[in-house]
Amino acid sequence: MTAPDLAGGVAVLDFGGQYAHLICRRIRSLGVYSELLPHGTKLEELERMKVAGVVLSGGPASVYAEGAPKADPALFQGKLPVLGICYGYQLMVKAHGGDVVRSESREYGRSNLKVIDGGGLFDGLEDRLICWMSHSDSATSIPPSMEVLAASEGSPYAAVRLVGARQYGVQFHPEVSHTERGHEVLSNFVFGVCGAAKRWSMEGFLRDSVGSLSKLEGRVLCAVSGGVDSSVTAALLNRAIADRLQCVFIDTGLLRKGEAANVGELLGRGLGVRVEFVDASDRFLKSLAGVSDPEQKRKITGRVFADVFEEFARTRGPFGYLAQGTLYPDVIESGRSAGPASVIKTHHNVGGLPPGLSMELVEPLRELYKDEVRELGKLLGLPKEVVERHPFPGPGLAVRVVGEVTGEKLRIAREASAIVEQVLDEEGIYPKVWQAFAFVGDDLLTGVLGDQRKLGHQVTVKIVESVDAMTADWSRVDPGALERISDRITNEVPGVVAVAYSISSKPPATIEPQ
Ligand code: XMP
Repeated sequence: MTAPDLAGGVAVLDFGGQYAHLICRRIRSLGVYSELLPHGTKLEELERMKVAGVVLSGGPASVYAEGAPKADPALFQGKLPVLGICYGYQLMVKAHGGDVVRSESREYGRSNLKVIDGGGLFDGLEDRLICWMSHSDSATSIPPSMEVLAASEGSPYAAVRLVGARQYGVQFHPEVSHTERGHEVLSNFVFGVCGAAKRWSMEGFLRDSVGSLSKLEGRVLCAVSGGVDSSVTAALLNRAIADRLQCVFIDTGLLRKGEAANVGELLGRGLGVRVEFVDASDRFLKSLAGVSDPEQKRKITGRVFADVFEEFARTRGPFGYLAQGTLYPDVIESGRSAGPASVIKTHHNVGGLPPGLSMELVEPLRELYKDEVRELGKLLGLPKEVVERHPFPGPGLAVRVVGEVTGEKLRIAREASAIVEQVLDEEGIYPKVWQAFAFVGDDLLTGVLGDQRKLGHQVTVKIVESVDAMTADWSRVDPGALERISDRITNEVPGVVAVAYSISSKPPATIEPQ
């Protein structure tokens, strides 16, 4: 499949900041195609791509640190429109001879911004704005070639412009939702300054994808799990090549409550996708018996999945293609894109095909972010329950059962998680949080049932908020909702006498308990 190109769009150079992805997403939501490129991308390459403008992302380094990522100095000569954000801004200041120093106190959180001069970036906005800061280094002087556009309490040069050029720097993060009117600041840059083309829309992506997928020859195999990504992949392929698409749902015995029935109902009966069900739960549970090490559990579930899948492909084949719901962040994190070279983690579905299977890989969602996939799912007619479904890890409940995976603990994790989801859904909280579930280990606590003291399990409820799962914060949900969750779990899930709520964020914890 041909990827959308960046001509007329905006390139975001990645200096390693946690919000770099978010900048691309925000720009795309303005209708302009945007992609993350390595921080060292040269001006001449960007000109060859015919980008309308460039954003330099934030990053954790200090501009003077040894080995700190650098931008092509030619970028700062004023030829292309540039917006430097945080670290990207500090690079600009340094390149023009200003001073950037490590401040004693870190400016973190909401800050009041006083706009001195709209200057193209703040046009049409109020002169006092709330913005989000997250930096230790600051510009303490700017060169005569720059003029100040806005200041905050902690940053006298919170926004600057290169005189006579379409180049700007901001110390705050316009891409973060805590920055009021950040959307408008980005929009002013993208349209007003860069004159970017409004050519990116999900309808256009859907049309182009169906067009290019319909050119695939031969049969296509697609594993569906009930999750958003595989469901959208299947629905998209179904629209392009329904008669040559074969989906398979492998029941690992480690899935959420009702998953197989949901897939059958929504993809099979709802959209007419051809789905075959393979019940491999016994095989998974037998392979996991006696294993309590989390990494071992991951390896075993991965291996058994590959075996079952391979058997299916061989007996029902031949298939020319294997379709996967790989997303853009998965591609970037696995170091397979043109983007930042370092591999953060090898995502389970980016590693390639099981050895010995000769199918070509089709990844129709590899340009998209999760929220874009949800939008595409809606366009394809997938119901709300599918498109809003929280992410679920590949090894499933094997990593939500602490210690050995037993039928008893799986039942508890599955039933208790279903209650968490139901209560949050009823309270309207479910779509607002990243993930919500219950996990269980081997802790046995004393409870009372009638007049009897009784040992039972404790389950821990986790509800987290996150943008990209790289960091996550525990959700300060209404205590009334937590109380309902606790009451229902202890009343409805046999074997549970107590419920705890996890108030650890990531880091140092991870989202999944194992
Ligand atoms: P952690 O636990 O690392 O999880 O904070 C971050 C996000 O990734 C999901 N996750 C996984 N997904 N295979 C997957 O496909 C895995 O082994 C795996 N482990 C964690 C997790 O649900 C969260 O959204």
